[in-house]
Amino acid sequence: MSTEIITTNQLSKFYGSIRGIHEVSIKVPAGGVGFLGPNGAGKTTLIRTLLGILRPTKGTANVLGYDIKSRINEVRDRIGYIPEFNTSFIPDMTAMKFVAFCGRMNGLAHSESKQRASDSLYYVGLGEERYRKLGTFSLGMKQKVKLASALVHDPEIIIADEPTNGLDPTGRNQMLELIRNLQTDQGKHVILSSHLLRDVEQTTDYAIVFSEGEILAQGNIKQLTSGRRSSISVKVKFNEEHFLNNLKDKGFEVWEEGGFIEVKRVNDTENAIFRAANETSTEIRYLGSRSSTLEDVFVDLFRNKEGIQ
Ligand SMILES: Nc1ncnc2c1ncn2[C@@H]1O[C@H](COP(=O)(O)OP(=O)(O)OP(=O)(O)O)[C@@H](O)[C@H]1O
Ligand SMILES: [Mg+2]
Repeated sequence: MSTEIITTNQLSKFYGSIRGIHEVSIKVPAGGVGFLGPNGAGKTTLIRTLLGILRPTKGTANVLGYDIKSRINEVRDRIGYIPEFNTSFIPDMTAMKFVAFCGRMNGLAHSESKQRASDSLYYVGLGEERYRKLGTFSLGMKQKVKLASALVHDPEIIIADEPTNGLDPTGRNQMLELIRNLQTDQGKHVILSSHLLRDVEQTTDYAIVFSEGEILAQGNIKQLTSGRRSSISVKVKFNEEHFLNNLKDKGFEVWEEGGFIEVKRVNDTENAIFRAANETSTEIRYLGSRSSTLEDVFVDLFRNKEGIQ
């Protein structure tokens, strides 16, 4: 089996003249992936196109070997979708009834849908509350019900579109942990769409970065972050300017940030810093490592993009 669960080729979706996504070509590897991008970047448009809710304007896409245009039913059977906006829950319906109903909609038989609904609600931590009415649920609980209903037909892929929106830190951590566990314990492929970098970093190893309907970058988060802004932070006591120039003259990338001198990490950077301190008669007061976060990558990518335009 291919290690890619989704591939798209020049996939575009325009709403009239408004660009939703434009010539998106991605390969989503098995396991977990974060769709990362600011508001309006095209994440939801791509997800809804993959699910056949929106018709692509151009291009092709394939989910687990099925073409989204000719085999959309097979695609839908294999995806559990947690939509971005609040599902219009019927307040008087119990969680059990709702999730079982979603199971029926996904083709499960009556008894199976009840059993699976119960299992799914237990899985998301709402086992005890399964016969409570949805109208009495908090936002965090409703998000969990949405997750349970995405799981009810035992899909291979779970797509969660901004599942932490509006949740407090505890609810957010619970949701991200559930999503991560689906991948690690249940062997599901998970796609987490978010504009929050920390959500993606906390949940998956691989990210696809969106901006204005296009893909800015895709790759392993460690690889995306490594070598980009990983740096050594230094504080010196005297001759700061000389020290800085000494390193620059030797070809190091050096900048000042937050009261520190940052030296981009390449081979043997520490030794070069000590040598520079020696040569410029300064004293090193602090030396620490600063590894870049996805946030840095994100900011860098956007800065570069703006620079190009
Ligand atoms: N139904 C629609 N009609 C017209 N334009 C739309 C529609 N849905 C989305 N768009 C436009 O398509 C672009 C991509 O929007 P999309 O909702 O896919 O982004 P997103 O990355 O999911 O953003 P968010 O983080 O806000 O959810 C935006 O410019 C948006 O205004
Ligand atoms: Mg969206």
